[in-house]
Amino acid sequence: MKNVLVTGGAGFIGANFVRYLLRVDPQARIVNLDALTYAGSLENLRGLPDESRHTFVQGDICDAPLVERLLVEHDIDTIVHFAAESHVDRSILGPAPFIQTNVVGAFTLLEAARLAWKGKFEGRRFHHVSTDEVFGSLTPDAPPFNESTPYAPRSPYSASKAASDHLARAYFHTYGLPVTLTNCSNNYGPYQFPEKLIPLMILNALESKPLPVYGDGQQIRDWLYVEDHCEAIDLVLRGGRPGETYNIGGGNQPCNLEIVRQICTLLDELRPEGSPHARLITHVPDRPGHDRRYAMDTHKIEAELGWRPRHNLTSGLRATVEWYLSHPEWVKAIRAQNDYQIWLEKNYTKREEFSE
Ligand code: NAD
Ligand code: TYD
Repeated sequence: MKNVLVTGGAGFIGANFVRYLLRVDPQARIVNLDALTYAGSLENLRGLPDESRHTFVQGDICDAPLVERLLVEHDIDTIVHFAAESHVDRSILGPAPFIQTNVVGAFTLLEAARLAWKGKFEGRRFHHVSTDEVFGSLTPDAPPFNESTPYAPRSPYSASKAASDHLARAYFHTYGLPVTLTNCSNNYGPYQFPEKLIPLMILNALESKPLPVYGDGQQIRDWLYVEDHCEAIDLVLRGGRPGETYNIGGGNQPCNLEIVRQICTLLDELRPEGSPHARLITHVPDRPGHDRRYAMDTHKIEAELGWRPRHNLTSGLRATVEWYLSHPEWVKAIRAQNDYQIWLEKNYTKREEFSE
């Protein structure tokens, strides 16, 4: 791995991955292609471990000539594809950009790689980053998802990611493009845009705003600290077998209410003013089609590549709360530059749109 094209590298996981790769691989040069949608920000890329090995390009993954040019000009041998519309709530209110970026965008990248690398697939890799949500929703006692679980997506977001996964696998089987896939559970950690559960709750609690828990709050997710996800992707890039999929997850099963309560307890300790923060917990109408439970079987990546998460939920949540408390300038900049306030307002009024 020498010249790496990272797509969506100004978003939450992409930016963490850029940092991770620059740190662990002194040879890697990164071209970071990101459209800087509401979810992406150059604030996420401040103070990189080595700026000289990072080139940022603002652009759309659906722009085929641009992608083809970047692959050739930078002699790209590895593509790590993160760029996506990633928020389920937004996909319910407006699915069109999800189909465009997640499906057409993935297709554009795969096709550009096939053409640029034609006849020279040796030593190349196209890694597609996906989600556990493609597998659908589990009942409380069902076994976790494994790599052979049939796809059953239930939101426009997960359906669009499922479509891109199918395309990635099709390019391996049809053209021999050296594709690997990872399906990962919910991530949390530094630089996560504060519309997602964990940062939203931290920042709302700090301002004594309501903490909106959807429905009964008993929905279960498997949570993974973002750096553990980055390490897993890096291992798959180096040792994963082309054509294979690897499930990644944190091996925990808290319900949403439990997560919110843990955040409140951490804030009671670290920012006691306004305690107890749990008084702010407010049940709001549920998300339509809300998946009840996700769980991941990660035996394959553990056995084949020796991956294991380094953080558990307790240490990861503490690190995350501490990061948000110690980066008020990042929070301020993100809120100022994006449609954050507009979204927050919508986030409350959309409850009515959901139930229409
Ligand atoms: P994010 O929303 O924080 O970041 C997405 C990035 O993609 C942003 O920087 C945005 O500007 C960029 N982008 C969007 N459309 C683009 C386009 N057309 N062209 C170029 N760039 C574009 O998302 P994230 O949470 O960092 O997720 C990254 C990837 O990981 C996604 O593919 C997502 O499906 C997957 N994933 C996320 C999670 C999670 O919990 N966040 C879990 C599993 C998998
Ligand atoms: P989210 O971070 O949107 O991730 P995903 O839907 O992809 O799992 O939400 C995580 C869980 O938290 C999900 O079950 C929905 C729930 N949730 C709330 O209860 N309140 C909120 O304000 C948000 C954003 C999410």
